[in-house]
Amino acid sequence: MFLNIHVFLIGFMGSGKTTIGKRISSTLDVPFIDLDAIIEKEQGKSIPELFDAVGEASFREIEREALHRYAKGIPCILSTGGGVPCYFDNMEFMFHNGVTIYLKASPLELASRLSAGQESRPLIKNVGRENLPSHIESMLKTREPFYAKATFIVETDGRSDDEVVKHCLDIVHTL
Ligand code: S3P
Repeated sequence: MFLNIHVFLIGFMGSGKTTIGKRISSTLDVPFIDLDAIIEKEQGKSIPELFDAVGEASFREIEREALHRYAKGIPCILSTGGGVPCYFDNMEFMFHNGVTIYLKASPLELASRLSAGQESRPLIKNVGRENLPSHIESMLKTREPFYAKATFIVETDGRSDDEVVKHCLDIVHTL
């Protein structure tokens, strides 16, 4: 398929942006960019190492710069880190440079998906397992207003990856 605008996948950590993004891009044979993976490669550090080395504020600057650079490149499916829409004017920027798809999931669903990989996510790595759902719920209170501005919202609770991919493909085919 020929993609003529960027498709930004947004949503909380664990919402499936990378998994779903890779599958959409391979089905449609269009380029895929994972912003966190790009940052890790360019900075020569994992995301937790980068947070430790430069702090969250500098990480957000690095993230914004990478977003701007890749959004100026050839149209692709671009999966963003969970915080991207919530800093600077990133949401506006994505809006002006393509379409955004919010992969939406409930705090309970996210907590169950994230409990295995907390170590790789600096913002939740020190949260006890039993507090994870409420911690996510409170982060989502701040973040949801940004995510909710997405061009399209895809509910993922209770849906298989196949179903979510299908829904996203239906959206991309309308572009
Ligand atoms: C973050 C999400 C992470 C990563 C960093 C910060 C966030 O990406 O960018 O740990 O602020 O929600 P994923 O959403 O891919 O886990």
